[in-house]
Amino acid sequence: MLQVNRRIKDIVGSTTLAITARAKELQAAGHDVVNFAAGEPDFDTPDFIKEAAIKAIQSGQTKYTPSVGTQELREAIAAKFLKDNQLSYKPGQIVVSCGAKHSIFNLIQVLVDDGNEVLFPSPYWVSYPEMVKAAGGRPVIIPTDAATGFKITQALLKKYSSPKTKVLILNYPSNPTGVMYDKAELQAIAAVCVERKIYVISDEIYEKLVYDTDEFVSIASLGKEIFERTITVNGVSKTYAMTGWRIGYAAGPVEIMEYVKKYQDHSTSNPASMSQAAAVAALKASQESIQEMRKVFKSRRDLILQCLDQVPDIRYIRPQGAFYVFCDCSKVGGAAIASKMLDDIKVAVIPGDSFGAPDYIRLSFSTSESRIKEGVDRMARWIKANGKKHHTA
Ligand SMILES: Cc1ncc(COP(=O)(O)O)c(C=O)c1O
Repeated sequence: MLQVNRRIKDIVGSTTLAITARAKELQAAGHDVVNFAAGEPDFDTPDFIKEAAIKAIQSGQTKYTPSVGTQELREAIAAKFLKDNQLSYKPGQIVVSCGAKHSIFNLIQVLVDDGNEVLFPSPYWVSYPEMVKAAGGRPVIIPTDAATGFKITQALLKKYSSPKTKVLILNYPSNPTGVMYDKAELQAIAAVCVERKIYVISDEIYEKLVYDTDEFVSIASLGKEIFERTITVNGVSKTYAMTGWRIGYAAGPVEIMEYVKKYQDHSTSNPASMSQAAAVAALKASQESIQEMRKVFKSRRDLILQCLDQVPDIRYIRPQGAFYVFCDCSKVGGAAIASKMLDDIKVAVIPGDSFGAPDYIRLSFSTSESRIKEGVDRMARWIKANGKKHHTA
């Protein structure tokens, strides 16, 4: 029997990617699939960004760059952090990687040792537990529910941390719930992390997709002590519809980032040079295209919530950001309805068990308004017909 590395043997594949692949297969076979599974904007990358990449290729920027990314890109990222987040990072504190996923993976490899505990709230992004296991760490999940708005609090953080806790991973707006933290909530969390010497990885990839407020607060901006314990992660994937370009970045204390650099030196080296040139163009341009996309997502968010209000026996967490609605389906069969709905009515959603929430499904509203109406309408009819079975069971 194949013997694999003990840290890798229990890793599970990504259900998000698996369902998306199955939905695409059904589509290719001619089925009319409504895709609520997407983890990426359905918009095309803006033309000026594509043109920057084409220009980079034509002008010979097709070679290795420094492993941590070009100086120009790291300067553009430093300027973004200062302008948007009031965070003062030098280019030497920034490492550009092949997507924010890669940035987080690198950080966990650097910070987490055998037996260290890594805290994060559930529902959580699917990759966090697997990344922690791959580093030999122990994922410690802080369960959240409606009582705290599906967020961690100071009390929960104190309850679940221990002397073995090394890192807290925060993600807001959250995938899958869309919930946000405000300044006061973050201050309360930061105080515990400073007092208990816990590092924070702040995954801010959905920063620009917020709908009920213009204020996004980076936890690292809340004072010198928390700044020195936080590594801020972001990227261009969601903000600029650039998921395929694979550019993410992390910024933090230089002694941590030096190790991230060394680790990346011996694994991937630099992310694609032309993608880096595209990311420079994205970050330096006027940010109008972001505002346009945000407006469209906000009206889709409002629409999908209105439609879901008509579906019997389903309750949702109201998303303040990102492009997902997390729905409680416990009355109609829980996460298991995801594969049944794909088979029966060709509506693709992600089962919540992969986010640590087996009663839930995740719907992405990264699709047109007409598809949102069509998909939720199919769901409503299916649940009316099939829900009865669960009520009588
Ligand atoms: C919460 C969260 N973090 C990080 C990522 C990674 O994004 P990327 O690797 O495309 O930059 C995603 C993508 O789905 C995400 O949802």
